Amino acid sequence: MSATDDTIDTEDDNIPRVGSAPDMSTRYLGLELCSPIVASASPLTGNPLMWARLQDAGAGAIVLPSLFEEQIERETSALDAAFDLAMDISGEASSFLPDLDGFDAGPARHVALVEKAREQLSIPVIASINGVTPGGWVHYARHLADAGAHAIELNLYDVVVDPRLSAADVERRYIELVEEVRAEITVPLAVKIGPWFTALAHFAIALEDAGANGLVLFNRLYQPDIDLDTLDVRPRLQLSTSAESRLPLHWMAILRDMISGSLAATTGVHDGADAMKLLLAGSDVVMTTSALLMYGPEYITAMLTWMRDWMTARDYSSVRQLRGSVSRHNVPDPDVYDRANYYQTLHSWLPPQHLGGVSGTSR
Ligand SMILES: Cc1cc2nc3c(=O)[nH]c(=O)nc-3n(C[C@H](O)[C@H](O)[C@H](O)COP(=O)(O)O)c2cc1C
Repeated sequence: MSATDDTIDTEDDNIPRVGSAPDMSTRYLGLELCSPIVASASPLTGNPLMWARLQDAGAGAIVLPSLFEEQIERETSALDAAFDLAMDISGEASSFLPDLDGFDAGPARHVALVEKAREQLSIPVIASINGVTPGGWVHYARHLADAGAHAIELNLYDVVVDPRLSAADVERRYIELVEEVRAEITVPLAVKIGPWFTALAHFAIALEDAGANGLVLFNRLYQPDIDLDTLDVRPRLQLSTSAESRLPLHWMAILRDMISGSLAATTGVHDGADAMKLLLAGSDVVMTTSALLMYGPEYITAMLTWMRDWMTARDYSSVRQLRGSVSRHNVPDPDVYDRANYYQTLHSWLPPQHLGGVSGTSR
């Protein structure tokens, strides 16, 4: 955002510029973004009709829906089966092979989506791959990058049910996978993880060392539900709530000063206030899905307006100026982000009147 004649412009992020609207630009994965709000992977970002609306509303970037390891493996085995069948029938396999495009529909569709998004958008387009095992499927990261993706997001969504695997085994596998993807691409790589690691700070640094340029915190884990009539176990998608942003906020604040790469917050970003808190804690960008699925792409404009007003009222001139100013390293008492927070939280509870308290349920 350029300064107008009646403003005092400065290169120094710490000196407020008088009279100008706050600069909402940020840097993520080495990319310059016009705004810190990124539309995270969902059917919304997979719909070309939504792209211009997201960009016009002020999205800094979009993440396209994931190409899943299972999708690629399925296509590959279908192709292998077709090839084997053709070889059985004739040594001249190629003349019998079915239309290969048909067998590659999933991955090919994702590659085409990246190309199309690049044609239509001026904001960065991030392609996503989603899987947990090292192997041939990671080549698709290169196909997506070759199609024009500005960066690749690798989603490590996992449910580890094998009791023979230790936490160290699982983390080693993830690191190997990150190294494999890193070796496939030259564009920046972000890794999206869940929150349930015993030593998250250690693992986060290991991901960086393995080649991640940024971390996306956190995957929202979906639990199945039981239908009490049929006893079927069913997937049950519920959109997030704003309260869920406190988990990424906590870890943004802790990791900000340990990680040299980028940090993106995802889960529970429902309004400008959620976004602002996450930036103050240390995120470079905040990602949102549920709020956009509920209110549409234009909701980004409302979030940004709220954020600009908040910043203007407090003389913040830019997102870069405030980013991380309430991180664990930057608060007077870092214990608020440690176990002391737990102790204080429990002891802040006051019993409600019906349990003999004075009023309210908590201070
Ligand atoms: C319908 C739906 C589809 C999603 N698809 C993907 C996906 O393909 N890849 C991915 O990494 N995350 C996917 N997500 C997760 C979101 O990107 C986001 O991380 C999550 O919803 C938490 O953010 P929120 O609280 O703003 O919804 C999906 C979420 C929803 C609701």
